[in-house]
Amino acid sequence: MSGQEGDADLVYAITHLEAPPDPPEWWRGAAFYEVYLHSFNDASGDGLGDLRGVTERLDYITSLGVDGIWLTPPYASPQDDNGYDVSDFRAIHPPFGTMDDMNELIAACHDRGLRILLDLVLGHSSDQHAWFEESAASRDGDKADWYVWADPAPDGGPPNNWISSFGGRAWRWEPRRAQYCYRPFLRSQPALNLANQQVMAEMLDVMRFWLDLGIDGFRLDAIQCLSFDGALRSNPPARDAENPSVGGGPNNPFKGQMHLFDRDVPEAIPLLHHIRRVADEYDPPRALIGELADVDSSRLAPKYTVGDDRLHAVYDFDLINRGETIWDWRRMLDIRSRYLVPGASLNVFTNHDSPRAVSNLMPEACAAGRSAEAAKMLLFLQATLSGGMILFQGEELGLEQPNLSADEITDPWAKALWPDFEGRDGVRCPIPWEEDAASAGFSDADTPWKRARDGQRAMAVDVQEADPASVLRYTRDLLAWRRSLPMLRIAREVTLQDLPGNVIGYRREYGDTHLNCYVNFGLGSEKITLPQAGLKALFATGTATVEGDRLTLGGLGAVALA
Ligand code: NOJ
Repeated sequence: MSGQEGDADLVYAITHLEAPPDPPEWWRGAAFYEVYLHSFNDASGDGLGDLRGVTERLDYITSLGVDGIWLTPPYASPQDDNGYDVSDFRAIHPPFGTMDDMNELIAACHDRGLRILLDLVLGHSSDQHAWFEESAASRDGDKADWYVWADPAPDGGPPNNWISSFGGRAWRWEPRRAQYCYRPFLRSQPALNLANQQVMAEMLDVMRFWLDLGIDGFRLDAIQCLSFDGALRSNPPARDAENPSVGGGPNNPFKGQMHLFDRDVPEAIPLLHHIRRVADEYDPPRALIGELADVDSSRLAPKYTVGDDRLHAVYDFDLINRGETIWDWRRMLDIRSRYLVPGASLNVFTNHDSPRAVSNLMPEACAAGRSAEAAKMLLFLQATLSGGMILFQGEELGLEQPNLSADEITDPWAKALWPDFEGRDGVRCPIPWEEDAASAGFSDADTPWKRARDGQRAMAVDVQEADPASVLRYTRDLLAWRRSLPMLRIAREVTLQDLPGNVIGYRREYGDTHLNCYVNFGLGSEKITLPQAGLKALFATGTATVEGDRLTLGGLGAVALA
């Protein structure tokens, strides 16, 4: 299928942006908390976070006021890519605990009114999965077509020019079959061939296996990689050097191509229909939230969420990877407000794949020692932009990105692109629970899998609990206020124009209710002319003073007016 037909699909999506129901479904515009299992809390004392560790700290998560958690992959895995390389989709990685621990965690979430999403990787497995062992062994076995195999090009090289998001060719040679195998990420993460009906049926059964246990849905990994061009055509060079939604540093070779044939291909859409049908088998239907990376995702998001036969919501990397300048923020707002399906996208400023938000997006504020103010401002933005939000663990503490030395780097992506790209180890450091405890309260082990950062102790949970002005206490207030205004989850967003250079503004509109939000990214205060006099501040961070139709907004301040 050609790229043009793909665009037709997009046009269909954009012309069918339906209004959300009132009241909205539980997942629409919801606030989730991402638990990065490795680094959240170690109950067993072996140095690695685990399921019981999450259950132990569930009251803390509940106290934040989120609607649910997203739990990173707990499955059996050699951990080459920290669990995104699965060797058995129906088993728990033993250091994380047991199936009983998982059942306990699900029940404990539900007891507290929290939903739980499991991270599921449909598009690839570990090369240590029994399916791959069998598929790689011969061209004739039952599972010969379970992965993506291709003959060499006439010169003996790979069949096309596709490259891995993590750097290097996306093909690995398999001598036993005298063929190449497609792997969009690490060498040890071969792509599953979901176009094969047996494979798809198996993965749908994997979904049912976990849904039957009682989980509320999935965070689906890398949905841009569910399918690929059947004819394996080579990608053209990128039209410009930008490719902004791609991580991996400025020179990641992946940015050099236009990913027409290996990412976000039209063949993925029918697969989404099958996936959605499984979620809809359950009552009430379970939620499917897709990670959309490596592509121009704001523009493409509707295609994955429109109607009732695709995903419920997606999140992308646009706010993470494009937010470096005020100019970009404005542009982002414009792009987002044009394409958003109300409540069907989630705002994400960081996750386990990106640097801590405040350091990445607000370096000047951090350099000026004002990172806590900047963290509150970013949280405000995340909570008030159209769509839901995913809070990555530690963002409620306003943690900055820690500096790691080269010998502490374990992320294979960083190793491939070092020193251009510092990788994902920093954001994956343990949560500081107690300022004065060993490993800041994360683990009793002498050597946890990652060292707690001494520089983050002053921001530990126990310190912030005691400080009414802390980022933690602010986060609770912000989310409580957000819950009190359900329109925030579903209202339209319109970008406000003609504002001072450091300020962005957006109006949330639902029926006759309007909420004007202003956010000042600068360090100094700004004066703003409001559309009318008499507006009142409903929620603010920093200083915000309204006189008539004039708003004075302090540096790093943000306010919602109605
Ligand atoms: C996205 C996950 O968030 C990331 O951690 C992982 O490395 C890639 N998918 C590949 O599975």
